[in-house]
Amino acid sequence: MSASYSLQQYVDDLRLIGSETDDEDEIFRRLGPLALKLVGERSWLQPKYYESDESQGFGVHLLHEEADHSLAVFAVNWLPGRGTPPHDHGTWAVVAGIEGVERNVRYRRVDANDRPGYAELEVKKEFDADAGELLCIRSGGIHKVTNETDSMTLSLHTYGRHVNFTNRSQYDLDSNERKEFKLNVD
Ligand SMILES: [Fe+2]
Repeated sequence: MSASYSLQQYVDDLRLIGSETDDEDEIFRRLGPLALKLVGERSWLQPKYYESDESQGFGVHLLHEEADHSLAVFAVNWLPGRGTPPHDHGTWAVVAGIEGVERNVRYRRVDANDRPGYAELEVKKEFDADAGELLCIRSGGIHKVTNETDSMTLSLHTYGRHVNFTNRSQYDLDSNERKEFKLNVD
């Protein structure tokens, strides 16, 4: 029997790590290699993870969350030419590429953070995240993701808490408006 690594094993490891530390750097150091190990195993992938949401531009499939919405794992696909607005997560995030190249833009906040519903951002860096690559974002980190290829992309997303339960935000770069960001989740 070959040594395989299942989604259930990943969830068990995630629970263990979550029970032992709240330190985000330690979570990234321990969980990151396991997320890459899981995306290297394609046996857990199901056809429904490729079902997308045309209105949203991407499809979000919940694989696991605890009863209190902590430790949430999703398979997220991105339609060609579509993406997200700039957003934060309200928690830590570990993203591992499964298929395709996802364009990431990371932002920094440059205003005084003293006006509710308002934020000024500037680009910190831009990079492509390929299949088999890892992206770790601390709580408060802001980024956007777009699929600039001709094919659907797919990635594994793990968060400290289900992102519809973190009061996280999306950001409008033209109006500098900061507002709620909720996902349609299957
Ligand atoms: Fe994100």
